[in-house]
Amino acid sequence: MTDTKKTAQLSLNGETYELPIFSPTTGPDVLDIRKLYGQAGVFTYDPGFTSTASCDSTITYIDGGKGELLHRGYPIDQLASKSHHLEVCYLLLYGELPTAAQLEDFETRVTRHTMVHEQMHNFFRGFRRDAHPMATLVGVVGAMSAFYHDSTDINDPWQREVAAIRLIAKLPTIAAMAYKYSIGQPFVYPRNDLDYAANFLHMCFSVPAEEYHVDPILARAMDRIFILHADHEQNASTSTVRLASSSGANPFACIAAGIACLWGPAHGGANQACLEMLKEIGSVERIPEFIERAKDKNDPFRLMGFGHRVYKNTDPRAKVLKQSADEVLELLGVENNPLLQVAKELERTALNDEYFIEKKLFPNVDFYSGIILEAMGFPTSMFTPIFALSRTVGWISQWKEMIADPQNKIGRPRQLYLGETARDYIDIESR
Ligand code: SDX
Repeated sequence: MTDTKKTAQLSLNGETYELPIFSPTTGPDVLDIRKLYGQAGVFTYDPGFTSTASCDSTITYIDGGKGELLHRGYPIDQLASKSHHLEVCYLLLYGELPTAAQLEDFETRVTRHTMVHEQMHNFFRGFRRDAHPMATLVGVVGAMSAFYHDSTDINDPWQREVAAIRLIAKLPTIAAMAYKYSIGQPFVYPRNDLDYAANFLHMCFSVPAEEYHVDPILARAMDRIFILHADHEQNASTSTVRLASSSGANPFACIAAGIACLWGPAHGGANQACLEMLKEIGSVERIPEFIERAKDKNDPFRLMGFGHRVYKNTDPRAKVLKQSADEVLELLGVENNPLLQVAKELERTALNDEYFIEKKLFPNVDFYSGIILEAMGFPTSMFTPIFALSRTVGWISQWKEMIADPQNKIGRPRQLYLGETARDYIDIESR
């Protein structure tokens, strides 16, 4: 950030305080309030951090008004159409698009780390078959810190690099194992002759009893879903990873914390919640009923897959995914999928409804990803694990950036206390 030497003046209790202003390469200026409490004895108040920059970063930039998403400056629609997930992983991790040699080396390193320690297979048998795969993912990823002791020292750059590669490489394997365990099928080992997305589909859908050939169109759609979910500034789960990491916790425990946060229906759980909502709506005739419920302040119902804290224009990822949805459904011959018909009519209705226009509520990334994953044959319970494995590179890139930041310190927000002031204990006889 650039110290503009500009300052903002705050007048408070007869005093005036100068707050330094920093300017980003693009986006809003920030007020530096780090000395505010020490100078003026007051906190700032921002539940949900809607107006608070928690850090500086060079990884991802979102312009919610323009519906723009940049990864290291490259627009998401260009990456989705021209790149592939492991190349985007390299870009997010190291800051530049790789040369052919750098990409080959990176892909080889990831490919060679896709297997998990054989003893980790036993973890799965401790879960009920009907456990939600996100519960399994949180448990098994956290337990990686019980196996990979040689990559838990966050102060060793080499160990940080190994942990990053292991997590990016093993999350698809663990997610696929969680799926196989939930349907009572044997685990399928990763294959080094398949690319990242094809390997994941093979680990999920192949069975030992017959050959399974990954359709290249499905592999491309899968890879595009990975790219579109890779990173997204300081969203709730990334902020969770940063806060957990600020205590010095090991990377596997911090990523497990990010997975736990992503599970919520307001965040990464929205793709599953969106499909369940579409199934509940059931037919285009019932759409008006649900639109009215979404507008009713007394009804907690919200349209899953709509709205965003930052995007007040279209979510650029939803635009790309909408095209993928049409391609996948046409390939699978399910373009007349009743859920897709409901989804398309719901989108059309909401986009023409005053409430949604006025509140700038557009379909977000979760709206179309769920439809594509459903068409591919994934159960809704696997939607968020797929989001988690995609977002692992974003969490890890932000984690590496934070660890390397000399300003890095343990996160410790304050509060507006509205409770009781000090009072004496009352013996039970007197209560
Ligand atoms: C992700 O942060 C990220 O970057 C997240 C993510 C990422 O890549 O990491 O993009 C992934 O989490 C996408 C969002 C997925 N969640 C959903 O689709 C769940 C449904 N959406 C909502 O829960 C909601 O839109 C949020 C949580 C996404 C945003 O919540 P905010 O910040 O409270 O929304 P807002 O301030 O823009 O809301 C403005 C108004 C409010 O009404 P008023 O208080 O002004 O009267 O719109 C209403 C909200 O109640 N509103 C909705 C709505 N979303 C917001 N009303 C009906 N349906 C909705 N979906």
